[in-house]
Amino acid sequence: MNNRMNTLDAWAGNFGDDYIKRNLPDAERIEQREVMWRSILPAMAPEMPESIIEVGANIGINLRALRKLCRAELFALEPNRKARGILQSDSVVPEANILAGAGSKIELAEHAVDLVFTSGVLIHVPPEELPGVYREMHRVSRRYLLTIEYFAAEPEEKRYRGHDGLLFKRDFGALWLDLFPDLKIVDYGFFWRPATGLDNLTWWLFRKS
Ligand SMILES: C[S@@+](CC[C@H](N)C(=O)[O-])C[C@H]1O[C@@H](n2cnc3c(N)ncnc32)[C@H](O)[C@@H]1O
Repeated sequence: MNNRMNTLDAWAGNFGDDYIKRNLPDAERIEQREVMWRSILPAMAPEMPESIIEVGANIGINLRALRKLCRAELFALEPNRKARGILQSDSVVPEANILAGAGSKIELAEHAVDLVFTSGVLIHVPPEELPGVYREMHRVSRRYLLTIEYFAAEPEEKRYRGHDGLLFKRDFGALWLDLFPDLKIVDYGFFWRPATGLDNLTWWLFRKS
């Protein structure tokens, strides 16, 4: 296999199928995400989202946690067919709310959903494609934008499971502010692995003005 892969093809194909096998929605994983969301959701307490879409939801570990913690209508966008099948067979979100495709083209109307978020997805988008994904997320969001990703002060690429071109770190929060200066910072934080079991994730939450 060529070491440099097209990221979207990789996630839609066998590489993405293998990810699902390594990341089954067991009780421990869902519990970790519940802890994560219990830290994030209070930041939206003055106006809790009534609808939420996860861009790059995979089999919905976040969404499984979220449906225990809030009453919002949940949507999932996911390029991998097997993952979408599991979202459907496990009834993680209503079937009509499972969207195929990529973050660069979200088949929803402008301002369709209160909160649009990613978790471990923007790190897999080639840097030159990030503005297009940000624009789509911003277009679809009515109120909040949230990214939960790997932080680096300067953009850097890391090898990921033996491949180049699949993992990029940067200050994803700063990019939101660069592209959309109207956004207000609501909150941000860090989930340190030794304390949370999560993968040293940084989160940034913004509100449209
Ligand atoms: C590391 S997994 C994270 C899954 C999930 N967000 C979570 O936190 O458990 C990355 C997911 O993003 C999806 N993905 C990759 N590139 C994408 C893109 N350009 N737009 C939307 N989803 C994408 C993959 O198919 C995969 O399901």
